[in-house]
Amino acid sequence: MYSDKSQQKISKPVTLSTLKKMKAEGEKITCITSYDASFTHAMNAAGVDTILVGDSLGMVIQGQDSTLPVTIEDMCYHTAAVKRGNTNAFILADMPFMSYSKPEQALDNAAKLMQAGASMVKLEGGSWLAETIQLLSQRGIPVCAHLGLTPQSVHKLGGYKVQGKGDTAADLLLQESLDLVAAGADILLYECIPTELGKTLTETVPVPTIGIGAGHHTDGQVLVMYDMLGVNLGHTPRFVKNFLSQGRSIQEAFEAYISEVKDGTFPGPEHGFKS
Ligand code: KIV
Repeated sequence: MYSDKSQQKISKPVTLSTLKKMKAEGEKITCITSYDASFTHAMNAAGVDTILVGDSLGMVIQGQDSTLPVTIEDMCYHTAAVKRGNTNAFILADMPFMSYSKPEQALDNAAKLMQAGASMVKLEGGSWLAETIQLLSQRGIPVCAHLGLTPQSVHKLGGYKVQGKGDTAADLLLQESLDLVAAGADILLYECIPTELGKTLTETVPVPTIGIGAGHHTDGQVLVMYDMLGVNLGHTPRFVKNFLSQGRSIQEAFEAYISEVKDGTFPGPEHGFKS
């Protein structure tokens, strides 16, 4: 629906309940990263469901070679900017490297992000995060757990590699997912895992799943905005598609992405990984 004055889509604010309902009803959840008010405004006008203030800003905004140098102050600054440009989307904000290594420290830093305007915080890791997620959840802070390829662990992982390949790794990812849901995680985000594993996980866990390089079966999809607009400094990952081609405006590119995620056209088989 459009208002006569602004030509912007008018819809109700997206909440965690909306996202759970979308999973239950099989409606795909759309997510794009944003770091400022202006792009956030255009994404809202295009009708995006959720926006991730990703610590990918370390690479795409700051020109760092990983997300590790990003600080909680950086994340609060960009979360506040996104919040000011936002109307309806549900805002996830990344907790940066080493800002949640202990539960009490995580609570203090998550509170800063929520006060800056986040609707949910995102943390990278597996079962070791259970105690932290339980504490945040008990204190009323919604949590998204990011599993699979976790970029803050790039040096431990030995590079940006597909995770969860083979039965043992797949079983471990499933067990870790269940542990984090039991601890209170409200959303699970999977990065760079085989398409079939994305399907199994999405069918097994009771909370919405969002994927990036995790195939088309996850409940939602996320892309880094700069990647989907074809603005990147180096290597383009396999799971990325440039939606700004074909003479589109930026807002039309966001609309095309949203439409292709909703109707299941994106991601295609060529964007996924084999087991
Ligand atoms: O920081 C980020 O943009 C992310 C996405 C890659 C999911 O975590």
